[in-house]
Amino acid sequence: MAERAPTARVLVEPLGVVFELGQNDTLMSAAQRAGYYWPTICQGNAQCNRCVVRVIDGRGLMPYTPTELAGLRSVRWRDGAEDHSERLACQLRAAGDATVHKRGVRAIERSSAE
Ligand code: FES
Repeated sequence: MAERAPTARVLVEPLGVVFELGQNDTLMSAAQRAGYYWPTICQGNAQCNRCVVRVIDGRGLMPYTPTELAGLRSVRWRDGAEDHSERLACQLRAAGDATVHKRGVRAIERSSAE
């Protein structure tokens, strides 16, 4: 089986962990695959906005998709003020390196019985 070739590295602060995103990964899915908890209620359906990150360096990030914009406009940007430093990690893809800020991301503890 071919190895998944990472296409981008996204640093998540204040945790200080870098996640490698393949072509089809979102930031949240890459973090979950790596064994990290990422805040979510809707499980990646662009509805809850719990996954939102603040972009520190967004040079490598892909543009908003219509789904991501609709999700932000229905919750965080409901009053019409759009803060384009905010992105939904469940929709966010990257083609190059970037840095974002997100509290609540943490390594999932594994019990010693596993
Ligand atoms: S996980 Fe719910 S909006 Fe991203």
